[in-house]
Amino acid sequence: MKVLVIYYSTYGNTYKMAKLVAEGVREVKEAEPVIRTVPELIPQSVIESREDMKAGRDMQKDIPLVTLDDFKEAGAIAFGTPTRFGNVSSQLKNQIDQLSSLWLAGELESKPAGVFTSTASLHGGQETTILTLAAPLLHLGMIIVGVPYSVKELFSTQSGGSPYGPGHVAGQDNKREIDQQEAVICRSLGRRLAEIGLLLQRK
Ligand SMILES: Cc1cc2nc3c(=O)[nH]c(=O)nc-3n(C[C@H](O)[C@H](O)[C@H](O)COP(=O)(O)O)c2cc1C
Repeated sequence: MKVLVIYYSTYGNTYKMAKLVAEGVREVKEAEPVIRTVPELIPQSVIESREDMKAGRDMQKDIPLVTLDDFKEAGAIAFGTPTRFGNVSSQLKNQIDQLSSLWLAGELESKPAGVFTSTASLHGGQETTILTLAAPLLHLGMIIVGVPYSVKELFSTQSGGSPYGPGHVAGQDNKREIDQQEAVICRSLGRRLAEIGLLLQRK
């Protein structure tokens, strides 16, 4: 079963989280991750003028853009976005807003979905972003999956991650590395999506 890990990332933090979520998927026999990104909406001239944005773009240059078939073929989907004013990035939302044909055909109904996000600051809105993105996913008929407290790192994290989903605090310069607790929470979402997706497929 394929688990689609679809994300947007300007500076690379959400991309690194996507790779960790994919690692969790790989821990489950019969599941394989498919990492995909979405079209950039920031003008090229702006990206070219910023070393940090160029570095973020370059590290993702080999990641294919998602297609509607990727959504159709997936047994479960993880959505990753940087937090923008406590909300989902326009780049990821733009892609979700192009899912009408799948929505009308009921293609995504009953597929498990989870959300992960990266913020600059500790209380910058990880939970609001994840819960806000849950709304369109519910419209699409997906089953929202979070991270349960049996993942002990939820108790010990001093930065990102909550029952709503994995989070990373990247810092104001976007350079803070994903720490051990954040990484475990990322992997746990991937594993859980794969396990639940397989269970639902067997029904
Ligand atoms: C327009 C804009 C809005 C942002 N809003 C928030 C915010 O509400 N809370 C926060 O902590 N960080 C905010 N940030 C910082 C990003 O969330 C941060 O850069 C992100 O974690 C980087 O992820 P990436 O490396 O995947 O691009 C904002 C950044 C931009 C450009």
